[in-house]
Amino acid sequence: MRQKIVAGNWKMNKTLEEANILASEITGMVADEVKGDVKVIFCVPFPYLLPIKNQLGNNARISVGAQNCSEHESGAYTGETSAAMLKSLGVPYVILGHSERRQYFGEDAALLAKKTDIALKHGLTPIFCCGEPLEVRESNGHEALVKKQVEESLFHLDADTIKKIIIAYEPVWAIGTGKTASAQQAQDMHAVIRKHLASKYGQAVADSIAILYGGSVNAANAKELFACPDVDGGLVGGASLKSREFAEVIKGA
Ligand code: PGA
Repeated sequence: MRQKIVAGNWKMNKTLEEANILASEITGMVADEVKGDVKVIFCVPFPYLLPIKNQLGNNARISVGAQNCSEHESGAYTGETSAAMLKSLGVPYVILGHSERRQYFGEDAALLAKKTDIALKHGLTPIFCCGEPLEVRESNGHEALVKKQVEESLFHLDADTIKKIIIAYEPVWAIGTGKTASAQQAQDMHAVIRKHLASKYGQAVADSIAILYGGSVNAANAKELFACPDVDGGLVGGASLKSREFAEVIKGA
């Protein structure tokens, strides 16, 4: 059985002091209140990776993740952060291809394939995001688009390597809008993604890959979403910035 994963995407929020408080509150709540076997990841801004990681210590349930990395190995790329740097900090996870990166920073499929490769080369686990904008859903092109996003950035990997990826399906119209996909819409798309993975890599490989849902996940809807057979947890933005709300989301997994 696939383990449930709940990742918080803090985006560009919080001061260091606020970040420390948030992490320590959630850590306390997870220890005291949230039972069961769920993996929690705090995807924090780059400057907080090390302090938050140090704060977590040897917490077996909670790790940190980055929100992006460079497609380049090293060199004259002012302002960028490499996968090797993240690895050297002991960061296990990195979000790649979030829709905000695609939309505001022009990240496309070919670039994301490169980022995926370099992250994997350095032993990081990519949390690869895909998802359709509203107009694509309204014109019924969502399944084709999401399959294409997965295919173009990940299908060059061999079967042993793609097993190391976590996929996050995040419909763009549900991100930060308060409008969540229904459990049925999430399940349907996750099943489509898994079937697509199976068509290329076989059912056993497809069944081993975690597919998270993201887009306005909160304390009220997490349980129903995470109960879907192909939804293996969530990538959570807004609700991950509030300790009690996020603890409730984790409890839903
Ligand atoms: P949201 O963000 O939960 O605030 O919709 C999700 C995400 O962008 O990963």
